[in-house]
Amino acid sequence: MRTIDDLDVSGTRVFVRADLNVPLDGDRITDDGRIRAALPTIQKLRERGARVIVAAHLGRPKGTPDPRYSLRPVAARLGELLGTEVAFAGDTAGESARATASALTDGQVALLENVRFEPGETSKDDAERRELAGRFAQLADLYVGDAFGAVHRKHASVYDLPGELPHAVGGLVLTEIEVLEKLTTDPQRPYAVVLGGSKVSDKLGVIDNLLGTADRILIGGGMVFTFLKAKGYETGSSLLESDQLDTVKSYLERAEREGVEIVLPVDVVAAEKFAADSPHAAVDVDAIPSDRMGLDIGPKSRELFAEKLADTRTVFWNGPMGVFEMEPYAGGTRALAQSLIDSDAFTVVGGGDSAAAVRALGFDESALGHISTGGGASLEYLEGKNLPGIDALA
Ligand code: 3PG
Repeated sequence: MRTIDDLDVSGTRVFVRADLNVPLDGDRITDDGRIRAALPTIQKLRERGARVIVAAHLGRPKGTPDPRYSLRPVAARLGELLGTEVAFAGDTAGESARATASALTDGQVALLENVRFEPGETSKDDAERRELAGRFAQLADLYVGDAFGAVHRKHASVYDLPGELPHAVGGLVLTEIEVLEKLTTDPQRPYAVVLGGSKVSDKLGVIDNLLGTADRILIGGGMVFTFLKAKGYETGSSLLESDQLDTVKSYLERAEREGVEIVLPVDVVAAEKFAADSPHAAVDVDAIPSDRMGLDIGPKSRELFAEKLADTRTVFWNGPMGVFEMEPYAGGTRALAQSLIDSDAFTVVGGGDSAAAVRALGFDESALGHISTGGGASLEYLEGKNLPGIDALA
């Protein structure tokens, strides 16, 4: 793969696909981690005299402009962080994008409006995606793929556009691949994986693959209740994916056969309602009341997880242990982050949510080995899947 250093960018228009999909509260950015992660590539191109056209998605609008998903606040933050004005195109690949791109001078930066405002971006129809890629290609001379969080998407700006322009891989994507490769090729052992988040169905592929590589898999978050149910526990009104019970049972059996230790919580914080002010208490997993839902792992489980991580040499973590956005249910995720900081293991935190959790809970992210900007992308990498946005840069 060619890197930016292999491109002669001075005086050229460079289309940089970045992942600037940040959480917003109205038009306030609540975590700018992904914008910060995109800076080095943009800065390097500017310093070398490129005219940088940044493109990104925000949320999942339905192929049509929707002000709730406008990247305008991101343009402002990007400008603040770069210390320069960032021109903002009011459309993605139309008149405003063309005018904005052609007005750039060497070292200047523009951000296009959300690429997902164009139906062609996410289309399953190759011709429709290519038509949009063709319009993107008219804006620039060169392409740099640096949207690690979106490389698992076969989208026009990620997958089709590199075929239209001389291209290179960005520094962020390179670093992410380098780190994840360590986990898949020869992880130092014991190698533990901690999985959380709400849906077990999102994690099936990765669990399947990890049963062949990890020594221990620790499970928390909403997805744990499908595991607990599969082991015969009653889970009250907790989140449950009944249609995945058989698959989960088969994973538990396989883990046993292959000597992979699956560590489940022994207690959970159970609440009456999904609300911060709901009555709640820690209960053992064999005593979850029928009218309560588990919203976090309990204190005994936090200790158990810390013990199971203490001797590890490599850890990959994806997904919060509980509803960390509500203080009463943040303790499990906080304790897990602390255990990872305390351990000597090489730690990779995968994903927007887990990374945002680490920062929202006030941890210094530099205390953790590597915080990946890609949630779905890092999971698919660990699953061993081909990633369209990386294949296209080869
Ligand atoms: C992410 O948030 O993981 C990436 O930005 C990809 O977003 P998507 O899941 O909406 O494609």
